Amino acid sequence: MYDSNPTLTGLVKKIDEAKQGEVFFKEKPAPEGDDEGTGKHFYIESYGCQMNFSDSEIVASILSEVGYRPTRHLETADLILVNTCSIREKAEETVRQRLRVFDKMKRQRPGTMVGVLGCMAERLKSKFLEEEKLVDLVIGPDAYRDLPNLVAGAEEGERGVNVFLSREETYADISPLRLDSNGVTAFISIMRGCDNMCSFCVVPFTRGRERSRDCFSIVTEAQDLYERGYREVTLLGQNVDSYKWQNPENEQVVNFAQLLEMVAKVHPDLRVRFSTSHPKDITDEVLHTIARYENICKYIHLPVQSGNSAVLDRMNRTYDRAWYMERVQAIYRIIPECAISSDIIAGFCGEQEHEHQDTVSMVEWANYSMSYMFCYSERPGTMAARKYEDDVPEEVKKCRLQEIVDKQSEVSLRNNKADIGKTFKVLIEGDSKKSDREFKGRNSQNKMMVFPKVNNLKPGNYVWVKVTGATSATLMGEVSFP
Ligand code: SAH
Ligand code: SF4
Ligand code: F3S
Repeated sequence: MYDSNPTLTGLVKKIDEAKQGEVFFKEKPAPEGDDEGTGKHFYIESYGCQMNFSDSEIVASILSEVGYRPTRHLETADLILVNTCSIREKAEETVRQRLRVFDKMKRQRPGTMVGVLGCMAERLKSKFLEEEKLVDLVIGPDAYRDLPNLVAGAEEGERGVNVFLSREETYADISPLRLDSNGVTAFISIMRGCDNMCSFCVVPFTRGRERSRDCFSIVTEAQDLYERGYREVTLLGQNVDSYKWQNPENEQVVNFAQLLEMVAKVHPDLRVRFSTSHPKDITDEVLHTIARYENICKYIHLPVQSGNSAVLDRMNRTYDRAWYMERVQAIYRIIPECAISSDIIAGFCGEQEHEHQDTVSMVEWANYSMSYMFCYSERPGTMAARKYEDDVPEEVKKCRLQEIVDKQSEVSLRNNKADIGKTFKVLIEGDSKKSDREFKGRNSQNKMMVFPKVNNLKPGNYVWVKVTGATSATLMGEVSFP
């Protein structure tokens, strides 16, 4: 979820929160319905996990129903929205800086409205209106249906807040307006909220209770995307393995393995990915389903957080090192070609040097294809903030993080070099960053591959690519046949 789950690109990526926010519409493809013509326009910036990016597409859909069109130009927007993240302190600082920039725009163009959406809105609630006089609207993740109402109020000069957290809202009936899309890959939210109480994590407070979305609306959304030319969907939830939807008509319960199978059956040419898996909940049934379907990608994001059992206990992750290792072994046994990636926190409360070394050794042992790695950042109100002292000095946290990053780079490079000479089926996503004479796309294992274009191929096509070179983040190759 997480870009945690931050967008899963790059094989080794040390997350720099300052860069984590991404602006929709910064790239060429026009968002659906963007004609830049007359009428009112909204501009939206999203920070944080894929769930937030997916929510922005729901927000865009709701606003388009009331006549607002998306624009990629801040200067022409009547309504500026920022979909925020609270996961670490830096993420919140970045948003505060952006709000000051928006405030300047507001002063140049009176009448422009600014709204804060997402997790920071939920965490800080009306404090935003009181302390940050810069904002007109504050709307939490479960209140987006109220946007038209609140925006109408703001147009009349009323400042509005709705941070109600729901036990039912899944936006199942809303067809997302795809923003900044490459037309090939899309996110589908399958559940919301989180019932786990990892002691470091703010998500249960900002997103509320876990609830699963009607499986039929998920399948319909996947079918619709396939018919419109999309070739990959990523099913999103903070803990997809605890997906559970009960059909009110016949009381039948659908679990995650069954949902995966339903989506995989939409079409053999529609790839299915998912994120995030929780080590305590991932079942052999899910692993066998992945193994059975060629179009379910052989890639599992399985955050370990720490490789040490005492730290995992303080983190309230509800598994220990041995449990995690058993799950990794099960993955490699049932799906031998599977890649595994991770999230890791350095310098959690009370972490000793030998505990940290257990994390470094886990990177090596699990042979992660990549990891998202962070320094621990205390979040107000969480169990860790109440119970433990944030006692690892900042300098030590940074040193430990660097050691984990270095180990992951080494493992990723070794891992990628082992792919040289192999041929993979790649879904073409578009031009490579560096050259319009090269395509980029990913293999089933979620590794980014770059290769020279050949005639008649276009984004959305599958192609076989033979790996000829590798860095720790990318595989280079050429079009080939298996
Ligand atoms: N639901 C996902 C994670 C969502 S948050 C899961 O359980 O794996 C994405 C990642 O941010 C987490 O996996 C964790 O590594 C990191 N994170 C969460 N809270 C943090 C904090 N207080 N400080 C540093 N990193 C944190
Ligand atoms: Fe946070 Fe844990 Fe829930 Fe993930 S599973 S969102 S880390 S509380
Ligand atoms: Fe996601 Fe950040 Fe919220 S990681 S769930 S946007 S706190």
